[in-house]
Amino acid sequence: MPILFKKTKEIRNYIKSLRCENRYTVGFVPTMGYLHEGHRELIRTSKIQNDITIVSIYVNPLQFGEGEDFERYPRDLERDLGICEEEGVNVVFAPLDEEMYPEKPLINIEIKGLTHILEGEFRPGHFSGVCTVVLKLFNIIQPDRAYFGEKDYQQLKVVQRLVKDLSLPVEIVPVKTVREKDGLAFSSRNTYLKPEERESALSLYRSFLLAEKLIKGGNKDANSIKQTIIEFIRKHPHVKKIDYVEITDEDLRPVKEVKEGDRILLAVWVGDTRLIDNWRIGDANL
Ligand code: PAJ
Repeated sequence: MPILFKKTKEIRNYIKSLRCENRYTVGFVPTMGYLHEGHRELIRTSKIQNDITIVSIYVNPLQFGEGEDFERYPRDLERDLGICEEEGVNVVFAPLDEEMYPEKPLINIEIKGLTHILEGEFRPGHFSGVCTVVLKLFNIIQPDRAYFGEKDYQQLKVVQRLVKDLSLPVEIVPVKTVREKDGLAFSSRNTYLKPEERESALSLYRSFLLAEKLIKGGNKDANSIKQTIIEFIRKHPHVKKIDYVEITDEDLRPVKEVKEGDRILLAVWVGDTRLIDNWRIGDANL
């Protein structure tokens, strides 16, 4: 069984005692719970690389905008603790809101050129909320390494930059996106999808394969590839809206001509579910 903490003071004392006893390395996996295969992969990577693995489970209100899914976000601590036990997690930190935010934080974190584009454009304040909670969690846990999924590629880039700009003493370890057999990226939000919407949700992954085919066939024009992706996804019956489709280099700068290592990033509404996904060009085995 992992040791469960709900109080900052208690987890801090515990980690301090570990560090005094021995020079342990601490791997940290921040999550919002409702754990799935993607989270498990982060945990497994941490288990391989560290002596102790700590998972946080906290649905962070600060990163949800008004009218977003904060209230309906799936929560099940018992189930999550079971998964953590299966994976051999040592410690779970599951704070209450009053523990994390005794007062509404007044800080605002911006990273020029990173937090206001793509997701940031459609979810104003989102990355400020992510950076605030991640910084707080880093300060509480003080991990040696922290694990972030490429599924949220922009979040990974934002956190890497936060760590670099503020010289935070933690190594950020990226983990590749884990997909279901049919290609749908695992996400806690997939639980919102109605059975009839799932086929339409697959259009995200399939559009990446289509793009790879075009690129292998010699089309390098980012705009035309983007248009083909948009048209392909739009054809699916439950697709309500496409927030964005972008092709960028690995640092999220838009490109005109695509090359291996560039990223396709998109956000699509399937019914009432907003899905995000991304793809590294060159990763398909066609
Ligand atoms: P959450 O959506 O729970 O995701 C926690 C971590 O799991 C993130 O690093 C995310 O990129 C990773 N992840 C999710 N689905 C994945 C998949 N299919 N394959 C690989 N990794 C995947 O991201 C958050 O929570 C929050 O913003 C958080 C960082 C915890 C701050 O509140």
